[in-house]
Amino acid sequence: MCGITAYVGDDMAVPRVLASLKKLEYRGYDSSGIAFFENEKLNVVKSVGTIDRLEERICPREKQSHIAIGHTRWATHGKANEANAHPHLSQNKSVCVIHNGIIENYLSFKSKLTNINFYSQTDTEVFANMLDVCLNQDFSTQNVLKNLNELTKQIKGSYAFAILLSSCKNKIYFAKQKSPLILGIGKNFSMLCSDESALCEKTEKVIYLQDGDYGFIDKSQAQIFHSGKETKRKQFAFNFSANCVSKCGCEFFMEKEIKEGTQSVLATLENLQSINTRRLEREMKNSKKIFVVGCGTALHAGEVFKSVLEKECGLDVILDYASEFRYKKPNIGKDSLCIFISQSGETADTLASASFAKKKGAKCLAITNVQTSRITKICPYVLKTQAGVEVAVASTKAFMAQLAALYYLVLLFAKIYNKKITFSLKNILNLCKNGNNDENFEQIAKIAQLIKDEKSLFFVGRGLDYFMAKEGALKLKEVSYIHCEAFAGGELKHGSLSLIDENTFVVCLLTQKELINKMHANIIEMQSRGAKVILISPFCELKDKVFMFVEIRQAKSSLMPFVVSRPLQELAFLCAKEKGLNPDMPRNLAKSVTVE
Ligand code: F6R
Repeated sequence: MCGITAYVGDDMAVPRVLASLKKLEYRGYDSSGIAFFENEKLNVVKSVGTIDRLEERICPREKQSHIAIGHTRWATHGKANEANAHPHLSQNKSVCVIHNGIIENYLSFKSKLTNINFYSQTDTEVFANMLDVCLNQDFSTQNVLKNLNELTKQIKGSYAFAILLSSCKNKIYFAKQKSPLILGIGKNFSMLCSDESALCEKTEKVIYLQDGDYGFIDKSQAQIFHSGKETKRKQFAFNFSANCVSKCGCEFFMEKEIKEGTQSVLATLENLQSINTRRLEREMKNSKKIFVVGCGTALHAGEVFKSVLEKECGLDVILDYASEFRYKKPNIGKDSLCIFISQSGETADTLASASFAKKKGAKCLAITNVQTSRITKICPYVLKTQAGVEVAVASTKAFMAQLAALYYLVLLFAKIYNKKITFSLKNILNLCKNGNNDENFEQIAKIAQLIKDEKSLFFVGRGLDYFMAKEGALKLKEVSYIHCEAFAGGELKHGSLSLIDENTFVVCLLTQKELINKMHANIIEMQSRGAKVILISPFCELKDKVFMFVEIRQAKSSLMPFVVSRPLQELAFLCAKEKGLNPDMPRNLAKSVTVE
């Protein structure tokens, strides 16, 4: 979490860094800050809130600097206020640091700095002062690199640092461990960024820094060191696609990304068909146990997979939250296939779980949307989803792409075990080619208006619909701040039915033909207690029996998650919009959860 960016070069650095921060805002947006030189003086400007608010605080004169570092924050140590916002200066203002990560042992460093009056509660301010003390007034490049190497070796935790020195107007130092940091090189400039998509469009080459790397950039070069020695890292051509980080005419990224859902399914399946999966298939065949691990929406995709694989192929799947997985001491070993699902490929708990499983000898497969992410370095097998950059914090099109990759795995398992299953690749492709299921937009907009002021909502479903109900509830609560809870239809009478009265709205999903009667009975139970049922279903025979009905297309039962995703995502989006909230940046959250 948190985004960092730095620019040194011929262009004016402050606008470059501000533009880059806007693209990194999804990583955290409770406060932000920037450091640059004004004449000979190192200057820091900070603001609580969005990058726009930071920009308003910077006067045109200050935009002239040719070197700047910037940070957008998701608070870990201390409140989201100006004092805790980055950059952080050492006490005598010689060292200025931005940081993404957590220094777990910062209190032990802090206890050694008895002469420092700290103005913030952050671990980063401690690091800035530690470095300053270690440099001992010697700001030569050689001494900075030596101390950066020695000091970072003592850090427990994760960091991507960019560092300015008040005595040096042409270099930005950096160090990286377990937090992402990418180096961009162009004609007469260099950049550092948490994420490739925030590099400026003039970037020509990209270097993916490795854990333990440190060094500096200036306008004409980057020098990278590792364990005291200069090292060369492979340079990759930079492909800038303006569209991938543009709203393409929509007001919000979430709106645009929901619309891209079916396209991301098609692109993912097209890509998977073009890759050779023979080695992976061998591992799948040799695995006696299948584990699925992820967080939030990614794990909901995993739940759908578990249900479909168990039903279609009769194979058992053990599923867990990444934050719980390794603490349960799961019985995994060489005979296990562990599937890690992560849009970003940077989620700390998922990465830790993957490393844990790998150490145990399991075959690790990552399903991720980011080819260069850290999970791809841990897992020997990677299935890349093709959702394109997902900017909005709430995952929508990436969830669809995860479903696509997971259904593809079901097809591979079916082939390996010679199982006749209820769907084919062609069925999924046709389903997604034949429209985007946006025909109910008006009805969903009416529902959003109706429920926007509710304090609490229920989502209910059975079978596959239960997992999609969980996903629908997560999406709606995440962006609209309405408390939403999902229940399996049959579970209601074991306690939760007592919550239902004549003021309760319940969103029911019913897409599984064989469950019509059972689910209808649950609907009647809820309605008898006064519930206002909003039913999302292809089965129109129930249309007149509920408070509101959203008709969706009918497809094979096992493929209905592809159909029902869109109305659930739209409902969440429209509800947030109705409430005047920014669905792209829900409060307290960030896109990449890089802390455990
Ligand atoms: C919800 C959402 C989150 C993520 C979760 C995992 O809309 O986006 O629940 O799914 O934080 O993130 P990744 O997939 O990047 O590991």
